[in-house]
Amino acid sequence: MVGSDSKAGHVLVVGSTMIDLVAYTQRVPEAGETIVGDRFQMGFGGKGANQAVMASLVGAGVTMAGAVGDDSYGQMALQNLGSFGIDTGHVHVVPGASGVAPIWVEPDGTNRIIIVPGANEGLTAAMAVDAVGSIADLSVVVGQLEVPQAATAAAFAEAVRRGVPTVLNPAPAAALEPDLLGVTDWLIPNEVEFSVLAGGAQPDDDAALVACSQHTGARLLVTLGGDGVALVEVDGTVSRFPADLVEPVDTTGAGDAFVGAFVAGLASGLDEMAAVRLGMACAGESVTRPGTQTSFPSGERCREILSACS
Ligand code: RIB
Repeated sequence: MVGSDSKAGHVLVVGSTMIDLVAYTQRVPEAGETIVGDRFQMGFGGKGANQAVMASLVGAGVTMAGAVGDDSYGQMALQNLGSFGIDTGHVHVVPGASGVAPIWVEPDGTNRIIIVPGANEGLTAAMAVDAVGSIADLSVVVGQLEVPQAATAAAFAEAVRRGVPTVLNPAPAAALEPDLLGVTDWLIPNEVEFSVLAGGAQPDDDAALVACSQHTGARLLVTLGGDGVALVEVDGTVSRFPADLVEPVDTTGAGDAFVGAFVAGLASGLDEMAAVRLGMACAGESVTRPGTQTSFPSGERCREILSACS
């Protein structure tokens, strides 16, 4: 079992790595149509890796549990995570292609993403549980839905057994397996994912937010893009945090910036309101720059944001 000296706690991310293949375009093509894009950028992504990078930039010790392919993309993804000081000892190299994500971004910053999970599907429950067991000073475990739900559920169950809080970003939207939901302390969907969880309800309806939190048995935080964040508090009141007005360039990964910073905030001992403000500040800055991890605030900037939120 390893520990870290970090006063900022230790986050385990059970999640995906992808290589993002991003086309910036004036508009997206119709079926059967070919159009000329403006610019292409390859980058490092995957909701799990993005959240791990953001948490590390904020100052948490971070371990990632996941799987990459035995190809050059897999090696690049491992090197990238290592360059942020993330422990990749539980990112397994499995036969086949690494995950990729073709992404289209339009001039208003909105994105459309297709993920092809590839090796991410190779993460097993045993691998994920092993990662939980390897961290002595574990503060928070966070997962998403780009690796098998059974692996995340097993890791969360082990975390709950140890009294460690679990946070699920249910993205991309999918029905949640009861075994996973039953060991999830916090749910952080965006509007689309909330609607799937809540049977078509919309997050502008406070009663729907409260009903969803009660039904799932989890604390609920919904990210609303330019409309900020909605939080269902322990006593069932809904608090809405408006976003700062910014000119978005590329919204890809903004949700991951929020989740990664939020869990790092919890790991460092911030209360939930301060952790929400930290997440919003990091996400708000990320949409003003192109790319996914490349758009995140620097470690130095994160320290400034963190001290302003503490
Ligand atoms: O949330 C953004 C991420 O979704 C991208 O980095 C892409 O890889 C997909 O996982």
